[in-house]
Amino acid sequence: MSGEMPATLRSAAWFGPADRDGFIHRSWMKNQGLPDHVFDGRPVIGICNTWSELTPCNAHFRTIAERVKRGVWEAGGFPVEFPVTSLGETLMRPTAMLFRNLASMDVEESVRANPIDGVVLLAGCDKTTPSLLMGAASCDLPALMISGGPMLNGKYRGQDIGSGTNVWSFSEAVRGGTMTMGEFQEAESCMHRSAGHCMTMGTASTMACMVEALGIGMPGNASYPAVDSRRYTLAHMAGRRMVEMVREDLRMSKILTRKAFENAVRAINAVGGSTNAVLHLIALAGRIGVPFKLEDWDTLGRGVPCLVDLMPAGRFLMEDFCYAGGLPAVLRELGPLIHRDALVVTGKTMGEHIKDAPCYNREVIRTVHNPLRAEAGIAVVRGNLAPLGAVVKPSAATPELMKHRGKAVVFSSIEDFHARIDDPDLEIDAQSVMVLQYCGPRGYPGMPEVGNMPLPPKLLKQGITDLVRISDARMSGTAYGTVVLHVAPEAAMGGALALVQNGDWIELDVEQRRLHLDVPEAELARRKAAWTPPAPPSNRGYYKLYTDHVLQADQGADFDFLVGGSGAGIPRESH
Ligand code: FES
Repeated sequence: MSGEMPATLRSAAWFGPADRDGFIHRSWMKNQGLPDHVFDGRPVIGICNTWSELTPCNAHFRTIAERVKRGVWEAGGFPVEFPVTSLGETLMRPTAMLFRNLASMDVEESVRANPIDGVVLLAGCDKTTPSLLMGAASCDLPALMISGGPMLNGKYRGQDIGSGTNVWSFSEAVRGGTMTMGEFQEAESCMHRSAGHCMTMGTASTMACMVEALGIGMPGNASYPAVDSRRYTLAHMAGRRMVEMVREDLRMSKILTRKAFENAVRAINAVGGSTNAVLHLIALAGRIGVPFKLEDWDTLGRGVPCLVDLMPAGRFLMEDFCYAGGLPAVLRELGPLIHRDALVVTGKTMGEHIKDAPCYNREVIRTVHNPLRAEAGIAVVRGNLAPLGAVVKPSAATPELMKHRGKAVVFSSIEDFHARIDDPDLEIDAQSVMVLQYCGPRGYPGMPEVGNMPLPPKLLKQGITDLVRISDARMSGTAYGTVVLHVAPEAAMGGALALVQNGDWIELDVEQRRLHLDVPEAELARRKAAWTPPAPPSNRGYYKLYTDHVLQADQGADFDFLVGGSGAGIPRESH
């Protein structure tokens, strides 16, 4: 089904020759205690590790890598672990997203430059998943991904609490006067109490579901908690399987087909996944050469119900999702919406894996006849305010605000927002539309997760918990609200978002997929003529590379020169 053993492995070009260069390649490796027989032509399996103590969600990855190695050795391969840039969501400034493409370049070039025949990708925290997949896809070797797994549920005063989601709700409660600072600080120690990534259906869990639905991860990948022994068993078996995949020449492009992307969109919608997936899946499709556009999110997602009752859309957390049956139960429940003939890294079809998938808790994983939300799709809205599109996640929004007309309250930067949002004299009410400018890929730079602007205290105290918010930024997958994101073109590119002024009327109609700035065209043209682009944040280094080459959100915010791939040809000898 999946091809023939390649006549010659890439690694043979390094380790095969009985000459000076072969001596160099083998002899230095032997300083690690490797015997002659590991250079006998067996598949060399790279283990691409994003371990870092600065990426706490991936801090257990050295243990996972060891388990992968066991499997590789057992199957007759030769494992070589190597580090790549690790992107930690909570610490990196100005935003980890700025460095996603950089990390993908690191992965791509590290794989191609070394004697690697197949690669196991270890990812967990949000951006580590797309960066590794994108980089590996541009090489198109046999590859599979192991997600690090979610943390155990947070526990605070007898309640389950979720990463991110409850940070936002607790900080709003402190600002609204319903939670003390002492209680807030106590919750800090209760939220993240085991190894793993965020245990809400935030971006990391969404990415882990994406990996499993694409078929590029092993069944069970999405939901086993990081500390569950089955996560380590999965890693062991993935190591074994990777050796077989090299022998079968089962490359990424054989797995990541259009059908795989369609399965991923539907799965992400069905679990109420993060809007960040929109960008990452488009960028990944661009690397592997699968036609896949922003609009596909909307069309493929229509009619897909949200089946999973997880925060931020619902009540439960990833540990509950695992015990309820995890992603296979969701994919089975989606019935004909899932392409069952799509190939998985196991060498089997998706249908074979999910046909008997059990569900043990119908509160956590609903049926299609009793969904959490009947329509879970990520909606793509367009109009003069977003000619290239913007996205909104109805499952995280307030139904009454999905069709809304209100006056703009404009913030020209996130600093402007922070400076004014607590001002009791700020002119804002329950009908207002909050607009945030210059937070797109180029403008910030890096498109930070600030689109879910907190509400002003004076409205919170009135019991108002949601307003329409519009920006060219992203939103944390753990956040919620009627938040229109990824507006393209962004303000820094002279998009209409840059032209909005306080008091302008804005109309959002999610059902009609419409986002309209109700200002006469002549007035918008006058404002555009007076607009000057902001100065670039830096004229050197990576920031310059980024702002010169980043594409807009509708194209996944990849670099223009990284779209596509360069294969895994063997580079020239260095000696
Ligand atoms: Fe790392 Fe959420 S901060 S996954």
